[in-house]
Amino acid sequence: MNAVLVASNRGPVSFTLSEGGELTMRRGGGGLVSGLSGVVKQMDVLWVCAALSDGDRSAVRLAPGGRLDHAGYDTGPLRMLDIPPATFHRAYNAVANSTLWFVNHLLYDTPNAPHFDGRFRREWESYQSYNAAFALALAEQAGPGARVMIQDYHLTLAPAMLRGERPDVRIAHFSHTPWAPPEYFTLLPDDVGIEVLSGILGADHAGFLTERWAAAFMDCCEVVLGARVDRARRTVTHGGRTTRIGVHGLGVDGEALWARALEPDVESHMAALRQRVGGRRLIVRIDRTELSKNIVRGLLSYREFLAQHPEWHGRVVHLAFAYPSRHDLPEYREYTAAVQRCAKEIEDDYATEDWDPLILNVHDDYPRSLAAYRMADVLLVNPIRDGMNLVAKEGPILSPRSALVLSREAGAAAELGRDAILVNPYDVSGTARALHQALTMPEEERTRRGERLRDAATALPPAAWFSQQLDALGG
Ligand code: G6P
Repeated sequence: MNAVLVASNRGPVSFTLSEGGELTMRRGGGGLVSGLSGVVKQMDVLWVCAALSDGDRSAVRLAPGGRLDHAGYDTGPLRMLDIPPATFHRAYNAVANSTLWFVNHLLYDTPNAPHFDGRFRREWESYQSYNAAFALALAEQAGPGARVMIQDYHLTLAPAMLRGERPDVRIAHFSHTPWAPPEYFTLLPDDVGIEVLSGILGADHAGFLTERWAAAFMDCCEVVLGARVDRARRTVTHGGRTTRIGVHGLGVDGEALWARALEPDVESHMAALRQRVGGRRLIVRIDRTELSKNIVRGLLSYREFLAQHPEWHGRVVHLAFAYPSRHDLPEYREYTAAVQRCAKEIEDDYATEDWDPLILNVHDDYPRSLAAYRMADVLLVNPIRDGMNLVAKEGPILSPRSALVLSREAGAAAELGRDAILVNPYDVSGTARALHQALTMPEEERTRRGERLRDAATALPPAAWFSQQLDALGG
């Protein structure tokens, strides 16, 4: 029995299975895992997550009670749930990633999608069962009066389900994504929207990354549920219960990041990159290959910048790291191909014998990403919409003299906007101008802004972010 538990779809590690049946453990990617991993390992917190792949399932099946830490892995207390693959696939790919993610990031091409039909109903039932499996595991593992921290859009129903099983436990839910405004949220079938909102309201405390996403959630509760919303006190009352709404702007542990970034594998990537790009200026981006990250418009902006500024030819290189994500979804595979096509066009147009204007890399390599951060002159972060975007916070820590070009639609803009160069992510020409402005920003101004960016980025490191939410549930 545990006093503090965390639940999320993706856990801190994932496993791959080689042809010879050998399991290799890797660190998980994305903002949620980056934020939680360090904290959970330091505190005695049980992390409950789902097995995402065949590799994960093989590892879980060899672990007593799904406890990977009891099977000899250095993960900290970790229980992985072996949810039947078909149920998992429908819950994760079809509902969480193709529906709730699309709604909250405003990603639909509405003349063509979504379609809420009979098939969606089966997918929705799987999402309900997946949430029920988490609620059950949490109910089994939670000690009396335990505090349970449920994460993200995969698990919107689990708070209310857990409350039904265990009225004694204290529950927090946290959304790592943006939240949609009511007129977009109501694309969802009415009963589904109601279930999502009242699922989260099963928690005592519902947390968001920025005021803007918290306000959108409260608006949805008012419009869709007819809930009583007190914006000054930040509470939502519905069905006889009151949920407090909190804003916790997740930041970065600067010291831990630096410690990792000074390791020899990062240094050797820096040496290799330096050899490849010489003394040229570097525009860096690092993302999952994710529709919301707006990588294609980022590349188009770089192309427009090159077209407008021949004086920079041969003097600048764009390092674009777009590591693979959610490749079970056709939209993501197509998007990766579009990114590659666009990169090739830039090379065809501009590359010379001794100048590669763009280095695109679509393979995940954490130490190489850290090397790129350290060498960046300009960091480009231009998502269509993003819960926070930790890249925008990590970059200024590791490259104090770099300039940040940041989308005004990233949650991070709320805290970093004053010292970044803000862009409208749809405005390719505007972003091209911002790249130029960033490259030509005087050294002294860059350093001044860089210091403030770093302070803002480290204002609420993961441990403090987590404690705030634990405290919100009472000691
Ligand atoms: C975002 C979500 C996380 C998710 C991550 C990576 O940061 O908020 O919940 O884990 O993306 O996505 P994936 O589908 O690979 O877990």
